[in-house]
Amino acid sequence: IKMSEDSGKKLTMVTCSAPVNIAVIKYWGKRDEELILPINSSLSVTLHQDQLKTTTTVACSRSFQEDRIWLNGKEEDITQPRLQSCLREIRRLARKRRSDGEADVDTAGLSHKVHICSVNNFPTAAGLASSAAGYACLVYTLSRVMGVEGELSEVSRQGSGSACRSMYGGFVQWIMGQQGDGKDSLAQQVEPETHWPELRVLVLVVSAERKPVGSTSGMQTSVETSSLLKHRADSVVPARMKEMIEAVHKRDFTAFAELTMKDSNQFHATCLDTYPPIFYLNDVSRRVINLVHRYNRHYRETKVAYTFDAGPNAVIYTLQQNVEEFVQVVKHLFPPETNGGQFLKGLPVAPTTLSEELKQAIGMEPMVKGISYIISTKAGPGPRVVEDPSEHLLGSDGLPKESA
Ligand code: DP6
Repeated sequence: IKMSEDSGKKLTMVTCSAPVNIAVIKYWGKRDEELILPINSSLSVTLHQDQLKTTTTVACSRSFQEDRIWLNGKEEDITQPRLQSCLREIRRLARKRRSDGEADVDTAGLSHKVHICSVNNFPTAAGLASSAAGYACLVYTLSRVMGVEGELSEVSRQGSGSACRSMYGGFVQWIMGQQGDGKDSLAQQVEPETHWPELRVLVLVVSAERKPVGSTSGMQTSVETSSLLKHRADSVVPARMKEMIEAVHKRDFTAFAELTMKDSNQFHATCLDTYPPIFYLNDVSRRVINLVHRYNRHYRETKVAYTFDAGPNAVIYTLQQNVEEFVQVVKHLFPPETNGGQFLKGLPVAPTTLSEELKQAIGMEPMVKGISYIISTKAGPGPRVVEDPSEHLLGSDGLPKESA
């Protein structure tokens, strides 16, 4: 927390960062739109912030006239309902702490307006779900500025459903809950990121032509029209959650991988069952699906798994010992465009040579320009406070720095 004197007015400033998460049991469908309560539980892996993160600075000062927010360099409308829900809930928790007589609450800050500035360390255009990291970071940072501690996933859930899972590192479940007020609809860590160090994640960023239907409106139409979604939520996901938690506990990659692929496929089947249907997968996505199945069949072992969210990007889960070969296979089938820019970002992956036998077993023709780049990463920790004051995104005047 930074206190600086700016023309005699105190400024309190905190900067935090929060991770992206990728679900292996998908959340799709709400039973309450306002509180963001889901129709089924879900489970995700929190990705490492070295590769993918949101950073947010919140400043609060008596001199601020109104709450304001800047996202990736552009001022946005703070009055949108989901931002308002998060701000209102954190302020409510802070007031509660103060009236409960808890220490450390910056009582002055409560009546002050906030300035919020947030950036991602990955391109928004990549179509990676940034709302999860964004809302998790917003809520975490606000809570630090206002001296709120404890359960915060209930608040970040009201920004974006999947954001509640980004409040923890490692393997995280979002328990759907039963209550009408959402008090029992919370995220919970299943295992920390250190539990399965061999697990690796490859994000294959697919070059997409169009922006797909957003998850919020997509899942709304699915709830209204898809009987398959109802069947999935009532009769498939409860058993799958148990099996997935078991697979994670035991570090059983085969079980983890098969459940992950089946659940992604069923989610996209419910999208097709939505009326009118929603298509998130494209030709490149389907080629990746085929490639993974052929690769696994060649080895008579489930070595690699795919999952897809509300867009064409593939996220691959595999174990460290398979990463080099699988990345080489992707490079072979989706030859990178040579106009500069590296194809492989994130954790280093050494090049290798593919056997003719493997190439033949896969039996697919290379397709240029299908995948723009790969981000190689692993499971990582939850939100954290950024201690270095030079990392603040807002200056001492409470406005975004040049770089933010
Ligand atoms: C396909 O959390 O983005 O990524 O709650 O309306 O903000 P809202 O939706 P959002 O939906 C994510 C859907 C998904 C699956 C998942 O992450 O579980």
